[in-house]
Amino acid sequence: MNIVIVGIQWGDEGKGKIIDILSKKVDYIVRYQGGSNAGHTVVVEDKEYIFHLIPSGILHKGKICCIGNGVVIDCAALIKEINGLESSGVHIGNRLKISSLAHVIFPYHKILDELREAKRSKKIGTTKRGIGPCYADKINRCGIRMVDLLNPRILREKLKDNLDEKRQILEKVYGHPGFKFQSIYKEYLHYGKTLSKYISNTHLLLNKVIGQDKDVLFEGAQGTFLDIDFGTYPFVTSSSATAGGACIGTGVAPIKLNKIIGVAKAYTTRVGEGPFPAQFTPAFDKFIREKGNEFGATTGRPRRCGWFDLVMVREAVILNGISELAVMKLDVLDGLKTIKICTAYKYKGKLFKEFPHDLEVLENARTVYKEMPGWEDSVSNVRHFKDLPANAKNYLSELEDSLGVGVSIVSVGSSREETIFR
Ligand code: GDP
Ligand code: IMO
Ligand code: MG
Repeated sequence: MNIVIVGIQWGDEGKGKIIDILSKKVDYIVRYQGGSNAGHTVVVEDKEYIFHLIPSGILHKGKICCIGNGVVIDCAALIKEINGLESSGVHIGNRLKISSLAHVIFPYHKILDELREAKRSKKIGTTKRGIGPCYADKINRCGIRMVDLLNPRILREKLKDNLDEKRQILEKVYGHPGFKFQSIYKEYLHYGKTLSKYISNTHLLLNKVIGQDKDVLFEGAQGTFLDIDFGTYPFVTSSSATAGGACIGTGVAPIKLNKIIGVAKAYTTRVGEGPFPAQFTPAFDKFIREKGNEFGATTGRPRRCGWFDLVMVREAVILNGISELAVMKLDVLDGLKTIKICTAYKYKGKLFKEFPHDLEVLENARTVYKEMPGWEDSVSNVRHFKDLPANAKNYLSELEDSLGVGVSIVSVGSSREETIFR
């Protein structure tokens, strides 16, 4: 069974926890897009691991983890992550495979990310990890791939061209002096050497093992509404975070995917700028942020919080072909008198049940809510669906009915054990 795990809100839904849990049952785990802008948290016996590039399945001995061609790689960040895992006793050995076709993030991508962001009148609130500029170079056909780090002549040619062009942009548009060739060339040749043992043709490997009936888990980063096409553009990331990205970002054909699991929080969060119709009022926003510890796993920035938004998630279910849902952080809603679910938006007298594309509507719409009674008791210790408080079950049933998809996993805490399977 080949399963895609995809975030169906604005990222940080709890994908890392779900990937970790499901990794036990598969043979291979592959990340298909994004870069070190991602922060996927896995908690095992009180120890917290935050993965940026390495798939969240790496903690399971014997599982092979691939970084697909669709990912953009910050080599220094990746080496730091490998070393960090090794020093905390997680042996990687030959369990990590990096696609030779994955594109590499260079210092000019990071600085351009930062400088462009500073110049924008309307900020995106990027993570400043160089993601957008690196994907832009990929599409512009001047990108440098992992395989290029292994060929000094090709790296020299490509890096020279890039540094020349970027120096002019950096100087003329941003007043930045640009970068010197020699030190970057040496640094990246060194990264190539360090990582060479992991670099290979991951798309042929994945197709081969799928042909041998091995099971593969496809790990999405970010979320549906950060997708470059379907997200709240331009307040999005620069890759295809939706399930379709799993094929493009790994070289595995759509016909080989068996199941798409959508991961959603029991409420909504967003980090960075951009519209958020169902955002809480400021005082409640602060309350839930603290209760749910809603601070970015990569940048530490506070996440904005809001009610579960059916207008968004209905669209995400369609876009991703979601066959089942994992609902995360139900425990954070413990003790609330009333819980609201956003069912539609209203703008200038018009009712929107479908996700609007016009930013003006998204930025100014009022939200229409259905209210449901909350539950008193903590759900953190519940391990069977039947033992959840009646109102928690009602809340989940309402989501299922409204979305037309079943909830197969309910998460009631950050650790592996705090999970209900149905
Ligand atoms: P990802 O990017 O989708 O992998 O999600 P993040 O790791 O960025 O954010 C999810 C956060 O919620 C992490 O700190 C997790 O440890 C935590 N978390 C996951 N599931 C639960 C849950 O059911 N309850 C609580 N309280 N925390 C959770
Ligand atoms: P995971 O995988 C939440 C957001 C940034 C910003 C926008 C563009 O942990 O869910 P970028 O640096 O990608 O150009 O920033 O996207 N963003 C995320 N938000 N979770 C993420 O990843 C994110 N990765 C990027 O905050 O608004
Ligand atoms: Mg995250």
